[in-house]
Amino acid sequence: MLSNAEMVKNAIQNAAIEGCLRNIANDSTIYGGDQVTIKNNKVVNFGSCSYLGIELDQRIKDGMQKMVEQYGSMLSSSPIYLRLEAYDEAERLLSEVFGHDAILSSTCTLGHLANIPVLIGANDLVLLDAQVHNSVVTATTLAATNGCTVRRIRHSRVDLLAQELEQNKDKYDKIWYMADGVYSMYGDVAPVHQVYELMNQYPNFYFYVDDAHGMGWTGKNGTGYILGEVDYHPQMVFVSSLAKGVAAAGGVTIIQDPDLRDAIRYGGNTHIFAGPIPPAMLGALNASLKILLSNDVNIMQDELQQKMNFFTNRAKEYNIPIVEKEVLTPVYFAKVGSTASTYKMFHILKEAGYYINTAFFPAVPQNKAGLRIPITNHHSFEQIDGLLSVIAENLPLVLEQEKLSLAI
Ligand SMILES: Cc1ncc(COP(=O)(O)O)c(C=O)c1O
Repeated sequence: MLSNAEMVKNAIQNAAIEGCLRNIANDSTIYGGDQVTIKNNKVVNFGSCSYLGIELDQRIKDGMQKMVEQYGSMLSSSPIYLRLEAYDEAERLLSEVFGHDAILSSTCTLGHLANIPVLIGANDLVLLDAQVHNSVVTATTLAATNGCTVRRIRHSRVDLLAQELEQNKDKYDKIWYMADGVYSMYGDVAPVHQVYELMNQYPNFYFYVDDAHGMGWTGKNGTGYILGEVDYHPQMVFVSSLAKGVAAAGGVTIIQDPDLRDAIRYGGNTHIFAGPIPPAMLGALNASLKILLSNDVNIMQDELQQKMNFFTNRAKEYNIPIVEKEVLTPVYFAKVGSTASTYKMFHILKEAGYYINTAFFPAVPQNKAGLRIPITNHHSFEQIDGLLSVIAENLPLVLEQEKLSLAI
């Protein structure tokens, strides 16, 4: 029997052979952000998580250029020893965006690796949502060497979470629920209102949430889905990536307890031992955060909202089996089923001029493969409609060939 690692390696290797992974954008310039050239074929890029589409904004390019002129490629020192003023400026701007003291990390993943081992005590229970991002799972696995109890809990099942809390509230110091704000594959969201109620009800219940795919396109100043829905709660640890909707790089952590915040800032492993965000990227980040603090972000969010509405309505009209979501997010998932049919759809779409991400095991469960479609402000309504019309025309035929049915 194959080990899990072997199954993952085989899945990734097969997808790469199919041309679904490890593609190279061989453009000499990224024409306006909506298209890429793959093997000399110019295609509409439906694979970007830069939801607001600000990565080509002149203010961001200028911010990067200025930093490169001033500081070159790198100030090669752990930021705990020595860092550029721009690093502290990024933390100040993040604190302004969130209205809370923010900790910057080089990436969101490195943020989890700094936070989770500091936060989780030996007598804590950690409940990992079945679909929480791999970076949270990895950091929790590292933390678990202290002897804490870690269990998986079925995806977004607040009823099961409530049961766990009731049964275990007196057995553990803290009980953690680790989840994503917006899930990266299906684009569904954490049941944040119910989780908030549970935090009010159980004083030793903590919510650790990664809202990487929520940032930028929603919430006041682009703070994301979670903080757009509820006020920050003292039992919440909020983490996000600055490499998606913010179009830069880095991670942000918001934690209210000042002692824990200092413990992470000064004692988090990756804050001590990892290198810094390079100057160019700090320039991009600070310019991007200034956009989030300006009125421009409202206009950009409204524009994307219109595109999300359009996608949702057109997909319904075309009868495309999109995973149902209670909340409109810019990540869509068209259900196919088998990995082989998903590859076929990938090739058909690419031939027709559209590049999408295929999602298959281990990113989604076995036999639940499909097309992951993020939309950004770079896309026109015509491009969205074009993509959906090709899916609508071809998906039933592909499924018929495999004797599968349309999973509406
Ligand atoms: C939910 C989630 N968290 C974290 C990450 C990783 O972010 P970073 O590249 O900043 O480490 C990703 C990236 O794919 C993600 O989808």
